[in-house]
Amino acid sequence: MPQSPFQKFPTEDVTRNFLPREDQCSPEYAKLEAERLWPYVWQIACRMEEIPNVGDFVTYEVVDESIIVVRTGPDEISAHHNVCPHRGRQLTEGCGKARFFKCRFHGWEFNLDGSNKAVIDRKDFGDFFTDEDIALKPVKVDTWGGFVFINMDPECEPLADFLSPVDDYCGRFNFENLRFRYYKTAIMPCNWKTAMGFFNEFYHVQQSHPQLIEHMEDYSNSGGFGRHTAMWYDNDSIYPFQRSSRLPPAPKLDVRDHIRGVVTEFHNNLGAMASGRSYRLLERLDGIPAHLSDMEVLGEWARIQVEEALAEGAAWPMELTPEYMLASRLDWHVFPNTIYLHGSIDSVIWYRFRPNGYDPDTCIMDVWSLELYGEGQAPPLKREFYTDWQDPAAKWGRILDQDFANMLAVRKGMKSRAFKGSLMNPIQELSVTHFYRCLREFMNEGPKAGSGRGEVMPEAAE
Ligand code: FES
Ligand SMILES: [Fe+2]
Repeated sequence: MPQSPFQKFPTEDVTRNFLPREDQCSPEYAKLEAERLWPYVWQIACRMEEIPNVGDFVTYEVVDESIIVVRTGPDEISAHHNVCPHRGRQLTEGCGKARFFKCRFHGWEFNLDGSNKAVIDRKDFGDFFTDEDIALKPVKVDTWGGFVFINMDPECEPLADFLSPVDDYCGRFNFENLRFRYYKTAIMPCNWKTAMGFFNEFYHVQQSHPQLIEHMEDYSNSGGFGRHTAMWYDNDSIYPFQRSSRLPPAPKLDVRDHIRGVVTEFHNNLGAMASGRSYRLLERLDGIPAHLSDMEVLGEWARIQVEEALAEGAAWPMELTPEYMLASRLDWHVFPNTIYLHGSIDSVIWYRFRPNGYDPDTCIMDVWSLELYGEGQAPPLKREFYTDWQDPAAKWGRILDQDFANMLAVRKGMKSRAFKGSLMNPIQELSVTHFYRCLREFMNEGPKAGSGRGEVMPEAAE
């Protein structure tokens, strides 16, 4: 990446307490991202199970770039720029299966590995071009957690280095064994980073999702790990099942009621973060002896789920320990555009956000509910796409409806002449500001910039 002649958007202007408005509102900023972020950063193109067989492909798009991700062997995936080297026609749209790629303009053909298979009337061209000239242009590809990542920068760092330390904290969850419960995509009415900002902090839960806090802790800490960020509870618990610590004292409920409350809400009103298995197992809660302590009940609840999962032939991640789960935090934002909440182990919600062209006021959001199914139990993959996020057919459920209800109002509010930027919570929203700071740094200094590499922890509240 060429060095910036100047820093149009200085990294230092984003602090723990303040987020300038232009990152989310300015067309110039969106243009800069297209030039300096997306062509140089690792990003999720698809899940591996979307391309299980040789020849299966997905077309991944971000702003003006289009990439073909194709399975070329049982353990081999390739990625190519989706452009015919003859006169530039795109070769694929969406997903499909191919033995080779054929251009519909003049009929040139390409093997799955990107090499040229046929040039019509090749003799006409003499020795004008090399094999490389007439092949598809390669894109870096690698996998982690069952996801296929691509990077358009031939000089990019290895994916494992880029992701560090996410794998150290979350690798034992074996995300590669999860399968889609649902896959929904919609055009949302705000900037991709604005939309993302509804999912990488818990500060909004008490106001936006008030039904949750009777049964769930929500006061959180957050911080940066390299360019990535995470959120966590400070109470050394791996379980959310309690009345929020921010609520006034009330008669204590049985922990079973909190488990029922949380699992039912997430299962029925999000379709994620509570598996079908855990929902079915709620009926066994009453069988747990009444005299046990809260911690013993939680231990039994965990034991029942593992036992049932193994009986169903699900690949439960047996290397997880309570200590590892505690250290792994609750929610990760993997730079730049994906977020997941993995605490319930067998039901993980994963979000991906992309700009919608150069429009700073809309974005493309994917919501992936991923679940650990028993042997042969995963439903067939069905991708749902909504040009209108308010389409009732999307059936987002109460929790996402609550988040989405804020999006347009935030976008509109930020346009006000009275609004210069966001006044950020330096503890619970550090996960948001750290990301914006790392994004500016990445665009100003290039992908090898270093200061986003350490840990950035919240300041203690006064
Ligand atoms: S543009 Fe593809 S063969 Fe001509
Ligand atoms: Fe939310």
